[in-house]
Amino acid sequence: MASSLLSALGLMSGTSVDGVDVALIETDGERLGAFGPVLTVAYPDDVRRTIRAAFGAEQPNAATEAAEQAVTEAHVAAVRRWSETHGVALSSLDVVGFHGQTITHRPEKHFTWQIGDGAVLAKALGVRVVNDLRGADVAAGGQGAPLVPIYHAALVRNLPRPLAVVNVGGVANVTWIGVDDSLLAFDTGPGNGPIDDWCARRAGQRFDKDGALAASGKVDRTRLERFGEHRYFARKPPKSLDRGDFNESWAEGLSAADGAATLTRGTARAIALAARHFPAPVSQWVISGGGASNPTLLKAIAGETRGRVVTADSLGWNGDALEAQAFGFLAVRSLRGLPLTFPGTTGAPQPLTGGRLHLP
Ligand SMILES: Nc1ncnc2c1ncn2[C@@H]1O[C@H](COP(=O)(O)OP(=O)(O)O)[C@@H](O)[C@H]1O
Ligand SMILES: [Mg+2]
Repeated sequence: MASSLLSALGLMSGTSVDGVDVALIETDGERLGAFGPVLTVAYPDDVRRTIRAAFGAEQPNAATEAAEQAVTEAHVAAVRRWSETHGVALSSLDVVGFHGQTITHRPEKHFTWQIGDGAVLAKALGVRVVNDLRGADVAAGGQGAPLVPIYHAALVRNLPRPLAVVNVGGVANVTWIGVDDSLLAFDTGPGNGPIDDWCARRAGQRFDKDGALAASGKVDRTRLERFGEHRYFARKPPKSLDRGDFNESWAEGLSAADGAATLTRGTARAIALAARHFPAPVSQWVISGGGASNPTLLKAIAGETRGRVVTADSLGWNGDALEAQAFGFLAVRSLRGLPLTFPGTTGAPQPLTGGRLHLP
């Protein structure tokens, strides 16, 4: 039975803590209608610091309370800015999908924590909000991540399968989609996180803009080989990562440029190693997220996978808005009680719905 399409606004703030992504999507949680306008609102440095100070916390404390308030305020401001910029009235929205900000993700302890106050957001915007999209999965024994695969599956309906969609944020995750729509998804390893941290420490820049620093350096092959032997890559999915599980320490001692080159190649190697878990080889790799804006990384992924690598944007998607769109999609699925997670994506015992609804 076809249900009507809703206007869903998705809000995402990833572990890169670069800013809030806002994207509008028309969907009934299965079919996709028109894509609406998108906006990324960067965090000011002090907000970024406040949020990062809460990373790793497992109990509420002064740092997590300050970070939560900052995250909620930043999301309210980002939605208002999106509404003004694009001339879309908030009253036209049916629902907001609010991911929040992950500060700690420990699936082995059945613990994942996204900060951000859904009730406050719903009141401030006057729109119903769905948040806590990972909680039910984790409570049932799933990894609580990745959540985007069911949205990837909706996007690729007209493309040849099997194919892989890789989102390169702070952490990188892959969705493998089979000819029969079967899904396998997991975090591949580090994404931009270690590259960002290296650049901040060694080059005084928040990230390696257009991969320029990495392009000017040389990959340390010995370190790369050793990195590829990390036991995470051999572990069978389901599996997911905290932002802090992989860092930049394995590049220590290298020059700024060689370190950036080696870490970038490491992120690509980890993505390529994901293929050992695929039930069948893929016809192409579609890259989304901030990492798709890094040409050095894209080239490294092509080299490591020896496959056809394309960006999400080249398919007419908006690669930077993909995750935000996914949270709009998931919010509508939550309203309809449709599953968000599956045995093949998070290790959930059966397809599970989730999310918590906050009325304005
Ligand atoms: N032009 C660019 N060149 C290189 N890297 C980029 C560029 N634009 C974005 N990035 C990378 O993408 C990251 C943000 O990616 P994003 O998908 O928003 O991650 P997250 O979901 O973790 O917030 C930045 O921290 C940076 O590392
Ligand atoms: Mg981001």
